[in-house]
Amino acid sequence: MRVERLELLGFRSYRDATVDFAPRFTAVLGENGQGKTNLLEAIGYLSRLSSFRGAPPSAMVAASQVASADQPRQAVIRGQLRDGRREVLVEAELPIEGRPRVLVNRQPLRRRADLLKSFQVSVFMPDDLELVKEGPALRRSYLDEILVSARPSMAAVVAEVDKILRQRNVLLKQVGRRLSSETTLTLDVWDERLDAAGSRLAEHRVELLAQLQPYVIEAYDKVASRSESVTLRYLSSWREMGLADALRASRDDDVRRQVSLVGPHRDDMEVRLAGMDSRHQASQGEQRSLAFALRLAAHRFVTDEIGVAPVLLLDDIFSELDPGRSAALLGALPEAQVILTSATPLPKGADPELVLEVHDGSVTAAG
Ligand SMILES: Nc1ncnc2c1ncn2[C@@H]1O[C@H](COP(=O)(O)OP(=O)(O)OP(=O)(O)O)[C@@H](O)[C@H]1O
Ligand SMILES: [Mg+2]
Repeated sequence: MRVERLELLGFRSYRDATVDFAPRFTAVLGENGQGKTNLLEAIGYLSRLSSFRGAPPSAMVAASQVASADQPRQAVIRGQLRDGRREVLVEAELPIEGRPRVLVNRQPLRRRADLLKSFQVSVFMPDDLELVKEGPALRRSYLDEILVSARPSMAAVVAEVDKILRQRNVLLKQVGRRLSSETTLTLDVWDERLDAAGSRLAEHRVELLAQLQPYVIEAYDKVASRSESVTLRYLSSWREMGLADALRASRDDDVRRQVSLVGPHRDDMEVRLAGMDSRHQASQGEQRSLAFALRLAAHRFVTDEIGVAPVLLLDDIFSELDPGRSAALLGALPEAQVILTSATPLPKGADPELVLEVHDGSVTAAG
């Protein structure tokens, strides 16, 4: 998978820019605040249909576009992509209000799963440290993202669980801590659906953990240049009992607290490094290597599953690493198109085919 050309109109700091990328390795250099991450964010959008920074579409429309009366109040991202011999043109229009519109080869995109078959990205950034350090939400998304990448049809299961939980929580708010016979029946229906979809999602996550573990061990060896035992374990309060029973047992509490207290949306992935809980016991450097290993492992796993490597977007990853770790990281990069940004000169050993310089929203190839 590859991005060959990117066109941006009214996207963040880009008024109108066209950028060509090298087949294998492009470095994007520039000072802070010049638009490096914006560029990667736009590429990521073409696969995920969301910002990897978690920004809403309205934040991505250029301020000049919003301010001007005669400009369309939207951003456009256009990507010429390649999947083997197949060329794919993806065009996304992000209005300041309302739903984004996405065309693939000029046809409206119906399901995101269809897009994932031709274009995927793996994003690495300094914030990934939170994957190891922070609460469980990021680790659940990490697992779900991999599931969807490896099997695009899983997107529907993840979305279904999300939807059921949202509606179940709305109902719990509406009933105001007291169930009538009617709302009891409605809740029964939601519970049945949550049991079906939620159990299925958790089974997939558990299976994924087992498959992922050897990849994480190998990646950690490479990134940290040392062998350490890494174990992944799925933590769930309800799996032994089964979700249907757990929901029944938790119903009174759910009604009282007006939120869904058990289910796959409360689960976690525990990562142990050398037998210790990485979240609370590993050093900052170890956590950073581990976060990187988790991303790298995901990339390799997905590559093996779908038979082609997603594009690697590496945002500012050297900023927190010493030269030794930077070199180890460069050495560990898999065969894939790599686009990396840096605000500082590249470490020794980095040998990009193409160097782009970003200055105030314009991109030029360095001679
Ligand atoms: N909607 C928008 N309209 C116009 N400009 C925007 C918009 N959103 C962000 N920007 C500008 O984009 C710039 C940030 O770009 P970006 O995050 O890509 O920087 P960067 O080159 O990655 O910097 P750093 O090295 O600090 O990470 C900010 O200066 C901000 O003013
Ligand atoms: Mg940046």
